[in-house]
Amino acid sequence: MRKPIIAGNWKMHKTVQEAKDFTKALADMVANSQVEVVLCPPFTALAAVVEAAEGTNIAVGAQNVYWEEKGAFTGEISPGMLKEVGCKYVIVGHSERRQYFGETDETVNKRVKAVLNEGMVPIICVGETLDEREQGITEKVVRTQVEGALKGLDAATVAGLVIAYEPVWAIGTGKTASEEDAQGVIAYIRSVIKELAQDSADRVRIQYGGSVKPANIVGLMQQPDIDGALVGGASLEPESFGGIVKGAAGA
Ligand code: 13P
Repeated sequence: MRKPIIAGNWKMHKTVQEAKDFTKALADMVANSQVEVVLCPPFTALAAVVEAAEGTNIAVGAQNVYWEEKGAFTGEISPGMLKEVGCKYVIVGHSERRQYFGETDETVNKRVKAVLNEGMVPIICVGETLDEREQGITEKVVRTQVEGALKGLDAATVAGLVIAYEPVWAIGTGKTASEEDAQGVIAYIRSVIKELAQDSADRVRIQYGGSVKPANIVGLMQQPDIDGALVGGASLEPESFGGIVKGAAGA
């Protein structure tokens, strides 16, 4: 059985104080949930969210990481720093990082390995653009991204990963992929993992991301291969994010 995982990616939102208030409000709403709940605040609010989440069932993740341990890399944050502050997860290869900050499959792979080295779990994002979908090359695109991200990892390691399928055209647009579309691509991703890492394909958790809301989470979670969601906009209010966690737990 794969435990569902709902993660909130706050992107570049929330001050330290707002992050603390949110975490306290959410904690009661998700107490005793059968779903794994993760908050991914900006770097500046990580420590505050870790502290506010202490004793709750909320885990904390970062939104990015650099792959070197230390050195002259102005502006970067190392995996060891994230581990020390209390992160359990790190989002890697989000489409916004690929689009605006030059992230490639190769640098995603470096980050994935660096995160694993520190004993944290990468949430690896993949997904096609609208143009790629219209060209009918969605499967080719996600295959290349998955193969690139997992390069050099053994099967046991792959089993512990989280992958997020986020079609770029569904992010922040209000357009969710249909349940069937999301299920189809996610099942395809699982089949690619089966080729690469056999048994781990049944264990790796694969989320859907892109305009997830309380109103569509249940249908998504009812799909056999969808194990959770990576939520952007709707993770910014405790009510909507709590509603998504509740919906996922009940699905
Ligand atoms: P939205 O939920 O705002 O569409 O964002 C999805 C996302 O990018 C999560 O990483």
